[in-house]
Amino acid sequence: MKITVLTLFPEMYEDFLHTSIIGRSIDRGIAEVEFVQIRDFAHDAYRHVDDHPFGGGHGQVMKCQPVLDALHSVKKENSYTMLMSPAGHPYTQKKAHELSDKDHLILLCGHYEGLDARINEEVDELVSIGDYVLTGGELASMVIMDSVIRLLKGSITEGSTEEESYENGLLEYPQYTQPADYEGKKVPEILLSGNHAKIKEWRTEQSILLTKKERPDLFKAHEFTKEEKKILQRLQKEGKI
Ligand code: ADE
Repeated sequence: MKITVLTLFPEMYEDFLHTSIIGRSIDRGIAEVEFVQIRDFAHDAYRHVDDHPFGGGHGQVMKCQPVLDALHSVKKENSYTMLMSPAGHPYTQKKAHELSDKDHLILLCGHYEGLDARINEEVDELVSIGDYVLTGGELASMVIMDSVIRLLKGSITEGSTEEESYENGLLEYPQYTQPADYEGKKVPEILLSGNHAKIKEWRTEQSILLTKKERPDLFKAHEFTKEEKKILQRLQKEGKI
């Protein structure tokens, strides 16, 4: 997969692209990342990329011309273009899976008070990484790159993402490692039992309880499997839920 990032601040990505799983995936050629400096497309002597908003108001707005010229310089038939924006669709794990099938992703990062709204018509979608406002789209684009690159074949051990939070609609169960007793805090006995069926049931139970507590919205929307329903009914009977 190729990812092209359109930004005014490519230096923000340096450590991110050379660290851990993302760094390794890029070294191995699983993902290729390129940057386009939007300012290189500004024509005036001061290389302005922004101007005052029509109708008045605070701050500056990024202009159509440099942004769209930058976009058109890299956009091809197989490109999928996304504009990072607090006014976009909420980003989800489902979306990360969809994006991991694309050949070429273009991530457009705005700054200042936003972008001229006519730019929106030239992208496939606007995407938001959460209900808060960042100073620019760069961190949002890193979130998208990270979540997509780790899903690419060869990036991390196959199967290791399947039981993670959001993959099946519930949050992931709690995990523990050595020591079994850390300053009096003990690992749940069941995990030391070697009884794989019981461990699996306990993990599903924990996923259900955790999702109900931390994410009632996900819990409400979840379509419980037959096995999960059985556990849910037992938890209700025991008054745990
Ligand atoms: N740019 C500023 N805030 C953002 C957000 N929450 N998501 C995506 N892009 C942004």
